Amino acid sequence: MVDAKRLITVLSLVLLLAAPYSLAQDADEGPAHPDIPSLDDLLDALDAGDIDLDDLRTMGFSVFSTPFNTYDGYGDGPFDPAETDTAAFGHRPTLQGNGLTLRVNGLDAQSCNECHTIVSNRTRPPTLGIGGVGGVVQNAIIMPSVIDVADSFDDRVVFQAGHDPALPLAFDGVADFNGRFANPPFLFGGGGVELLGKEMTADLQDLLAQARTAPAGTVTLLTTHGVDFGSITTLDAAGNVELDVEGIGPEDITGVPPEEVLVVRPFGRKGENFSMRDFDRGAMQFHFGIQPVEVVGEDVDEDGDGLDNEVSVAEMSVLHVFDVTNPRPRIGKLGPGAVAGFQTFVDIGCAECHRPVMKTRSRFLPLAHPEDPTDPSADVYLEVDLKKVGFDKAPGGGVFVPLFADLKRHKMGPGLAETFERGELANDEFTTARLWGIADSAPYLHDGRATTLFQAIDLHGGEAQSARDNFIALSVPQQKKLLRFLKKLRAPKQPNEELVD
Ligand code: HEC
Ligand code: HEC
Repeated sequence: MVDAKRLITVLSLVLLLAAPYSLAQDADEGPAHPDIPSLDDLLDALDAGDIDLDDLRTMGFSVFSTPFNTYDGYGDGPFDPAETDTAAFGHRPTLQGNGLTLRVNGLDAQSCNECHTIVSNRTRPPTLGIGGVGGVVQNAIIMPSVIDVADSFDDRVVFQAGHDPALPLAFDGVADFNGRFANPPFLFGGGGVELLGKEMTADLQDLLAQARTAPAGTVTLLTTHGVDFGSITTLDAAGNVELDVEGIGPEDITGVPPEEVLVVRPFGRKGENFSMRDFDRGAMQFHFGIQPVEVVGEDVDEDGDGLDNEVSVAEMSVLHVFDVTNPRPRIGKLGPGAVAGFQTFVDIGCAECHRPVMKTRSRFLPLAHPEDPTDPSADVYLEVDLKKVGFDKAPGGGVFVPLFADLKRHKMGPGLAETFERGELANDEFTTARLWGIADSAPYLHDGRATTLFQAIDLHGGEAQSARDNFIALSVPQQKKLLRFLKKLRAPKQPNEELVD
């Protein structure tokens, strides 16, 4: 329960410190989300003991769960045909020109909560709650220009270079689609994942610095927390290096500074974001057309919708606090069958990517503003003690993160490949899905195409082909035991309910 007295302190702080809202408002309507104090004021109040971490979480939850309206900045500015990329946020077209909604390519919801809603799909009815996964209806449909719902295009025109235009249309049952279709994962345990990612990035940056001062010809292995990302070769005494990396960085690293390549990005199905806040900046713009000050600058109405300062640095900061303090998934009691299933999981190669548990060095997750992807220790304004949000202490001062993943991208084969034409990251590459909580989080895979765990495993290809084949070759009782084990990986119980008043 939120302490009522504390809530009043927070609310009065909000009233006291909030800047007067400048938008001309209807007689009785205005923004759905109140302005909150600046980050500096919040940190001062925290130092003085007037508020605590739970108050910041409550404020973050408020940002997460408020259905934003046009007074908050919901919506892009007017469509601008002069934009070089009319599908990019800021000036997107809207359905029937209604000025506000699109659904395909964002402008698809009013609150974060709308899509991160399902805590367990195992109960009947599914248990709804805060910070969970979404069903396919909540999928994000990202930047398509073609969805051939009637299968009436020649798909080879769209996707295969150099096809023979004399060939007739092929009605092949493939509704061609050149965007991304992504199923919402849950936010549970995000703090542990973010800390691991940041520690791994710091290690890789250290290894790079070492490689730059090593004698020419030295090969430095890029291994951190037991995960191997390739190697660096020192080219000369001037500190030039050549990277040979896997599962990290953009698809084409030509011309990209090595420092930027060596950033672990655990968030987003494709592993594109180094922190949850980094993800949130894009989410605000994509889903809501809300422009964070930290992206567009202070007092800048970048999308031309008549509003500036749509979401403040303080609001993004408390949202980040909420994100990383989401409780972690739990592991149910394992009977002998499930234990045998876990052993099989390891034996047949699943654990090579789905590492059962990783250990952090520290238990304090640094939150920074502004964020420097290459240096997680820069501009830290708050350190969150992960022990206080449910992670178990590990020897050496860190915590255990039982995530069942390696924070690395893998090629998953043509069967799972997306058909995104803008593909900054290879269409067949995804970051290893974290299996904690998997018992409750159906549907599975990046677009939710697998309705059962068996299907999700069966659809593995590419680098995971041999593990998948091993699974299919198991006897039915062995398969059942492995699935029984996976079904012990549960979502947290009643996550974040203490934040609801
Ligand atoms: C329309 C549905 C929808 C809405 C609204 C939405 N999300 Fe998501 N969220 C998704 C999808 C889909 C993904 C996976 C995206 C991807 O893989 O690129 C995702 C991923 C995330 C992730 C990364 C999680 C991970 O483990 O990789 C975070 C963090 C997140 N969302 C936070 C938010 C926040 C904060 C908001 C509100 C500002 C929000 N989401 C609004 C659908 C939604
Ligand atoms: C080469 C690395 C790799 C190996 C080996 C591997 N996986 Fe995966 N696994 C992934 C990736 C990457 C995804 C996400 C794919 C996607 O989003 O489409 C995934 C997704 C999953 C999912 C769905 C998770 C979700 O939330 O959607 C399950 C279940 C799963 N794997 C189980 C297994 C099992 C069981 C094995 C062993 C038979 C295995 N995996 C072997 C990389 C691997």
